[in-house]
Amino acid sequence: MTHEVRGVVSRAKGEPVSVETVLVPDPGPGEALIGVQACGVCHTDLHYREGGIGDDYPYLLGHEAAGVVEAVGPGVTGVVPGDFVILNWRAVCGECRACRRGRPWYCFATHNATQKMTLADGTPLSPALGIGAFAEKTLVAAGQATKVDARARPEAAGLLGCGVMAGYGAAVNTGGVQRDDTVAVFGCGGVGNAAIAAARLVGARTIIAVDVDPRKLESATDFGATHTVDGSKEDPVERIRALTEGNGADVCIEAVGRPEVLEQAFYARDLAGTVVQVGVPTPDMALPAIPMIDFFGRGGALRPSWYGDCLPSRDFPLLIDLYLQGRFDLDRFVSETISLDDVEHAFDKMERGEVLRSVVTI
Ligand SMILES: NC(=O)c1ccc[n+]([C@@H]2O[C@H](COP(=O)([O-])OP(=O)(O)OC[C@H]3O[C@@H](n4cnc5c(N)ncnc54)[C@H](O)[C@@H]3O)[C@@H](O)[C@H]2O)c1
Ligand SMILES: [Zn+2]
Ligand SMILES: [Zn+2]
Repeated sequence: MTHEVRGVVSRAKGEPVSVETVLVPDPGPGEALIGVQACGVCHTDLHYREGGIGDDYPYLLGHEAAGVVEAVGPGVTGVVPGDFVILNWRAVCGECRACRRGRPWYCFATHNATQKMTLADGTPLSPALGIGAFAEKTLVAAGQATKVDARARPEAAGLLGCGVMAGYGAAVNTGGVQRDDTVAVFGCGGVGNAAIAAARLVGARTIIAVDVDPRKLESATDFGATHTVDGSKEDPVERIRALTEGNGADVCIEAVGRPEVLEQAFYARDLAGTVVQVGVPTPDMALPAIPMIDFFGRGGALRPSWYGDCLPSRDFPLLIDLYLQGRFDLDRFVSETISLDDVEHAFDKMERGEVLRSVVTI
């Protein structure tokens, strides 16, 4: 049986998205059909629309989602119909060279559904990050559906599927932030604020938020920043040094995706400190021209972070439990709930910096 649903499609580079009829097949071997309940609007969806990720139009957008398993295909044992799940874009394969060496959070061969979802005329769709969840139903590999406690609100839980997990993981998994650390976070959107909340959760002593928008600095304080720096008015490197006894921060997290910000993060870091880059650059950007002697002489590490080096089966249930205990405030990321018809409008609000997350509810 094929399911006829509404979904948000990007048909061509730079053009507004539209709500279209999408045909979703019943799950085949290893697949799961998900009734989507909520899906956040992430900057990466806009990157797809702008052509920054690829040229495989039409795209079925949306990838930060929670919902309920409606059906599973042959051979699926991990989830059953009725399970409340968060969708992930790291369904680990268990067999690639990363998985075989016991490092599944780097899995190089993650699974997606094999069958295609299509437009009504049969044109195959490319689902964003292999998910495509701005739709009433979507088809994924069963490993992309991670079961969590069903008491969590879908609009909050879904955010763990991308941005919040990326920010939390950038701090805790990639950056290794621990108690007593000093941390600076550059860019306080959904991702940066999640890094700030994570740094507070694990006991960082000083958490410095840097942004060029005062509204974002206000939200960063709510998430746990101990100090804020307006990068449009003062030099973040000098301010961060001043706030850390002249040394710089142990961990600097770049959550914007721009070379000049990466350079600030590099120099705002203490000797032997770590720079984590979680912001996604565009293909035309190059690394800043940092003298090699500075790279060598300062020691430490520069670490890109994909999806916060997360392991969904470990991190999603953990963070949902912390959320339900009131220790990790996912609700605070939800600026508004919208319908499938409002995604284009939500992109405008995101670009104007008015929201942390608009979340489509279905
Ligand atoms: N690595 C991953 O796995 C992953 C996952 C999700 C998102 N991302 C990326 O993370 C980045 C942030 O995502 P988001 O959803 O939080 O975006 P966002 O647009 O909500 O936030 C970006 C923030 O950066 C601030 N900013 C802009 N220029 C700045 C500057 N020069 N200095 C300091 N701050 C500045 C903006 O004011 C804004 O608050 C994006 O590039 C996104 O694509 C990466
Ligand atoms: Zn693998
Ligand atoms: Zn995303």
